[in-house]
Amino acid sequence: MKIIKAKDYNDMSRKAANIISAQVIMKPNCVLGLATGSTPIGTYAQLVDWYQKGDLDFSEVTTVNLDEYKGLTRENEQSYYYFMNENLFSKVNINLERTFLPDGTEPDSDKACRDYNKVIADVGGVDLQLLGLGHNGHIGFNEPGMAFEAETHCINLTESTMKANQRFFASMEDVPRQAYTMGIKTIMQAKKILIVVSGADKAAIVKEAFFGPITPKVQASVLQLHNDVTLVADEAALSEIS
Ligand code: GLP
Repeated sequence: MKIIKAKDYNDMSRKAANIISAQVIMKPNCVLGLATGSTPIGTYAQLVDWYQKGDLDFSEVTTVNLDEYKGLTRENEQSYYYFMNENLFSKVNINLERTFLPDGTEPDSDKACRDYNKVIADVGGVDLQLLGLGHNGHIGFNEPGMAFEAETHCINLTESTMKANQRFFASMEDVPRQAYTMGIKTIMQAKKILIVVSGADKAAIVKEAFFGPITPKVQASVLQLHNDVTLVADEAALSEIS
C-alpha cells in the first residue's frame, strides 16, 4: 500500500483529485468507482474546478457508485444519487446515462443486487475505485461481520453507522436501516484503489484496518491484499501510525 500524507483536508482532497484526474487523462473512457460520505466532497469539488478551467473532460467516463440506501428515491436529498448529482454529475460534462448506482427504489433486494452486478459486469469492471473509510472500518456499506461478501448485497446498517449518518437526517427514525452495496470481491477487482481518510477520529481505524490483522470484522483490512492501493490521508488520520 502506498501512503500519501497530506497536511490537512484540503491538501488530501487536492492530492486525491490529482490521482483521479491522471486516470481520466490517461484513459478518457475509464470506469471510475465512486464513493459518497463527507470525506470525498473536497475531492469532487477540486475535480469540478479543474473541469471548469478546461483541464478535465468527463465526456467518455463511466461511473459506478459503491452503494445506495434502500428505500430512498433519487430525488431524496439524502440519497447517494442526489449526493453524486450535487457534488459531481451536474457540474461536469459526464453523460448521465453512463453513471450508475444501485437502485434504492427497488424493493426486491435480490433483483436490485442482481441488476447492479450486471451493470458492473457490463461496464467491464472498475479502473479506479475511490473509497472512504467508516469509523468501524466499513468500505461502501460492507459492515463488520463474519465474512467478506463477494458481490452486491443488501446490508442491515449497524447502529454505529446509523448514528454516524444521523447528522444528515432530521431524526434517527428517518435514517434508512438498509442499503445496497457493492461487495468486497467487486471492490478488490478494481485495477486501482484510492482511499481517502481525514481527521483524528479516523486515526485508530486507519491503524487497525491497514496495520492490523485481515479480518471481516474490519472490512477495509482486506485492502492489504490488493496490489495497487493508495491511501491519501491527512496528518490527523495518520497520527497513530509511525
Ligand atoms: C458512509 C458511506 C461510505 C463512507 C463512510 C464514511 O456510510 N457508505 O462509503 O466511506 O460512511 O463516511 P465519511 O466520509 O462521512 O466519514
